[in-house]
Amino acid sequence: YNLHNAVSVQTCPSNIALIKYWGKYEGQIPANPSISYTLNNCRTNTEMEFFADEKFSVQTFLGGNEELKFASKIEKFFQSIEKYLPWILSGKYIIRTENTFPHSSGIASSASGFGAIAKCLMDLDEKFSAAETHNFRLKKASFLARLGSGSACRSLYDGLVVWGETSEVAQSSDFFAVQYPGEDVHSVFRNFNDWVLLIHEGEKSVSSTVGHGLMNTNPYAESRFAEAHTNFKILKTILKEGDLHGFIKLVEHEALTLHAMMMMSDPAFILMKNGTLNVINAIWKFREETGLPLFFTLDAGANVHLLFPSNGTEEEIKTFIIRELLPHTQNGGVVKDVMNF
Ligand code: PMV
Repeated sequence: YNLHNAVSVQTCPSNIALIKYWGKYEGQIPANPSISYTLNNCRTNTEMEFFADEKFSVQTFLGGNEELKFASKIEKFFQSIEKYLPWILSGKYIIRTENTFPHSSGIASSASGFGAIAKCLMDLDEKFSAAETHNFRLKKASFLARLGSGSACRSLYDGLVVWGETSEVAQSSDFFAVQYPGEDVHSVFRNFNDWVLLIHEGEKSVSSTVGHGLMNTNPYAESRFAEAHTNFKILKTILKEGDLHGFIKLVEHEALTLHAMMMMSDPAFILMKNGTLNVINAIWKFREETGLPLFFTLDAGANVHLLFPSNGTEEEIKTFIIRELLPHTQNGGVVKDVMNF
């Protein structure tokens, strides 16, 4: 390695899981395979400045303000990945990040945040040594991002992305994410909207780290993990055939299963709010009355991700969302994103 002062500027989007990762083993190994859409507008932009030959330390700024808690998290993360990036502790870092979505909106920034950090690290690695190919570095960025936050490893690729070994997807791995083959995805799934309704802004009551841990004693965990594998098989056919009806059913079932697992944990916890349930019921009523393809998924929080394809019906759906669903949010908050690939 030829270490020298260097700076890397990277951007990384967030992602939303369709088949959820919930439960993990030692070493950040997922208990089941997951698949997500990579978003476009919800991003983290990160500038990483490296000062060679200085004592190892990490200073972080979020939107211009120094963040001490985040710095110590990143410091620990860097120490934990030294075996994969031998030069990482030989300098000082100043890291400046900003999110393109509202701070404390309840939209998880860990996926885009760790994705961007991993990209910066692999960019610095390239500046210090020309030993590897671009594809290898991308895969390694996904590998490193996974160690920061599991779901972050899926943010390194566009479109539909798989993390966790499954016989349904060639090259899939527990250690890094891979792109789902685009040729196996019907056109109806290639231009999709994700409007995030900000039902409840602010910190959630139970972190995802604690939530994953509670799967270790959840009596339904094994059947959940098995179901995720089965759902992969079902989803593969749905994606190939363009079965929008089957997609809606599966994606909503996955979201509700994630939250059902929380309710069946010991101690039990509930991250949905009244607004979450009101929106879900309003979506189901709308679908029953109009037959239009508006449906939802949930992350580990109260916000509702509204999913609908760009297939000619989206204007009517958008009007409904603005008139009927926005009133259920805390401050009329909605973050509009799209997936195109
Ligand atoms: O990446 P983590 O450890 O924050 O876990 C997030 C898990 C979910 O967002 C709830 C589901 C997923 O697959 O992204």
